[in-house]
Amino acid sequence: MLTSKRILLIIGGGIAAFKSLDLIRRLRERGAEVTPVLTRAGTEFVTPLSVSALAGRRVFSDLFDLTDEAEMGHIELSRSADLIVVAPATADLMAKMAHGHADDLASTLLLATDTPVLLAPAMNVRMWQHAATQRNIETLIGDGIGFVGPNEGDMACGEHGPGRMAEVPEILAAVEAALADGPLRGRRVLVTSGPTHEPIDPVRYIANRSSGAQGTAIARALAALGAEVVFVTGPATVPPPEGVEVIRVETARHMLAAVEAALPADAAIFAAAVADWRMAQPTDRKIKKTEGGLPVLEFAENPDILATVSQIAEGRPSLVVGFAAETHDVVEHATAKRARKGCDWIVANDVSAGTGIMGGTENAVTLITDEGAESWPRMGKAQVARHLAERIAQALA
Ligand code: C5P
Repeated sequence: MLTSKRILLIIGGGIAAFKSLDLIRRLRERGAEVTPVLTRAGTEFVTPLSVSALAGRRVFSDLFDLTDEAEMGHIELSRSADLIVVAPATADLMAKMAHGHADDLASTLLLATDTPVLLAPAMNVRMWQHAATQRNIETLIGDGIGFVGPNEGDMACGEHGPGRMAEVPEILAAVEAALADGPLRGRRVLVTSGPTHEPIDPVRYIANRSSGAQGTAIARALAALGAEVVFVTGPATVPPPEGVEVIRVETARHMLAAVEAALPADAAIFAAAVADWRMAQPTDRKIKKTEGGLPVLEFAENPDILATVSQIAEGRPSLVVGFAAETHDVVEHATAKRARKGCDWIVANDVSAGTGIMGGTENAVTLITDEGAESWPRMGKAQVARHLAERIAQALA
């Protein structure tokens, strides 16, 4: 039920706007109060009269309506709601949000608000798949904006693919989830991220190309679902997310100690690219060039943090997720890794040269569970994170 929940519903310009009329009815049936806002383009698809009749209150439609500004300023309008729903969210409205434009009532409300926002995108499949839209989605997810849909199917324009607005029952479920404070509320989740640096001497170290982007996105997505996130990060190049507990470490052994200190947790996600080896004997003096020849570096094996936590006898997190970056036979190697380490899931990806995945913005993953391998389409790292966080929420439910 949504009793007395205040929803500001922004109806963008798209053929799917007709579904918003039913959405208003269903929200009100559940006890919500719906304040509708129609964009200028939205008025081409549904009339202000039908929207206000169904909502049982007046519809707001223009920033420059001075009467409205006198009655209720746009700042107040944007903040007096418990949730802002944008349905349909057009490519244009999403672009404005991603870039912080405020040139009409809807975009101004969205920029001025501190209320959670849920988008139900609807657009032509090519527009959805366009690099610009995908970039904007990444930005918006990073900003903590929620999404429901779009679905795949036949479109009003005659094409087929992702871009159809989610159906009303799906939007209602997403509204209820958004207002229920997130499915991971009360859950503690540990995330490791970034590379580790293993010192050779006081000025040199062994490292790898991990940016920490995927681990950071996962921590952010888990926090957005209400989890209490402990984020143990090596020296990453991307900044850590807001709203999580950040523990900075440098070496694999520091990371293991920080992870052990942070337990217990309901779930642990090991996205860090931990160095497999460290120097057997790092020196505390800089190694000098000598006439005696080249230095010989002797390695020692680092502790395997994922395997250690997967195999602890008491207090093991109920869900342990590892990553497998492979360059060939991805599923085969990742499946073997899952068994060897003793974790519950492996998120496997192909990092071979040419994929642009390591250090890049996109990822194409295969999720390996006890039910087998499930390949996800290539998408932005924030979208991979969102899907994974939703799966984690389902597994912990
Ligand atoms: O064995 P490999 O490095 O391919 O395994 C990758 C997975 O194991 C990742 O989830 C990584 O975070 C984790 N790992 C770890 N400690 C190590 C090495 C890898 O936690 N020393």
